[in-house]
Amino acid sequence: MEHRARHQFESGACRHCGLVPLVDLLRKRALVVADSKAMRATLRRAARFASSSAPVAIFGESGTGKEVVARVLHTNSPRALKPFVAINVAALPTELLESELFGHARGAFTGAHRERQGLFEEANGGTLFLDEIGEMPLPLQAKLLRALQGGEVRRVGGAHSFAVDVRVVSATHRDLPALVKAGTFREDLLYRLKVLTLRVPPLRERPEDILVLARHFLDAEGSESQGFSRAAEQVLTAHSWPGNVRELANAVQHGAALANGEPIEPEHLPEELLGAVASRPVGKIRGLKTLAEVERAHILEVLEACSGSVAEAARALDIGRNTLWRKLKQLE
Ligand SMILES: Nc1ncnc2c1ncn2[C@@H]1O[C@H](COP(=O)(O)OP(=O)(O)OP(=O)(O)O)[C@@H](O)[C@H]1O
Ligand SMILES: [Mg+2]
Repeated sequence: MEHRARHQFESGACRHCGLVPLVDLLRKRALVVADSKAMRATLRRAARFASSSAPVAIFGESGTGKEVVARVLHTNSPRALKPFVAINVAALPTELLESELFGHARGAFTGAHRERQGLFEEANGGTLFLDEIGEMPLPLQAKLLRALQGGEVRRVGGAHSFAVDVRVVSATHRDLPALVKAGTFREDLLYRLKVLTLRVPPLRERPEDILVLARHFLDAEGSESQGFSRAAEQVLTAHSWPGNVRELANAVQHGAALANGEPIEPEHLPEELLGAVASRPVGKIRGLKTLAEVERAHILEVLEACSGSVAEAARALDIGRNTLWRKLKQLE
């Protein structure tokens, strides 16, 4: 059955993908857009993991929606009414991160005037989301491993351990096995964290999501904007989105601000989106597309029509799958 951009709820769950997604209760709209086969597969897999308490590791490039998927896991789990606590592991120096995660006893270090519970305790009964886990310093990795193995945490400088019931979901854009090889990530922790795994595909692997996401963000802007012109839509679908969904959200915000209530045109979008087209006009006659641009747009259009399936798209284009892969790589 065709899954529309908007989930359709029946007794709380989407009748197409079975998920109970994040919902904006005021506007009764799902906050996760997933029209592409690839993203729907990731969400379906997440739905299957939701009832377990086993750790989940989410892999994917920056800005693909790893945190969004982590929240979906939580809202679909029996832990949904308990806290979802998120922390970016890369954002804090080691000592601060340790007391943030595990809490500290009074007088544990200079400035620790009061005892304080850590995020593990705060997330008790719920989900703790550890973003950018690849950046966790080695000494803390040992402590995290102990907490995962024993289900107990000890505050910094504390005399007792507390039992905690926390589901740990971690995420990274890094290649963890490579970090293990380089000696900066513990192999035993990696296996403990990735009992279950999810991959959030980059936006260029799911071009069908680009325009639905763009409309979703424009809607969320709440601006008077009249949508996107055909030309702006073409610019959006032709871009390779190295910054993924976050880059798209920013581009839409930029467009809405400049369009001022009129339909969003290419010139309202950030320059780097047009850059690929504008900075290549060597020997190009104004207004005429180069062969590379036409090929790129056509490939993306065919891919979209084939729901992102490279095999099907290659058949439709009557070229080999490897040739298409090579061309797709050049689009990146
Ligand atoms: N499928 C989606 N539907 C709606 N919004 C999305 C979707 N995916 C991502 N977003 C939005 O895009 C932005 C980036 O998503 P998110 O923070 O989850 O990415 P991330 O993979 O955790 O990025 P990073 O690696 O940089 O931490 C957020 O504002 C999020 O709400
Ligand atoms: Mg994130």
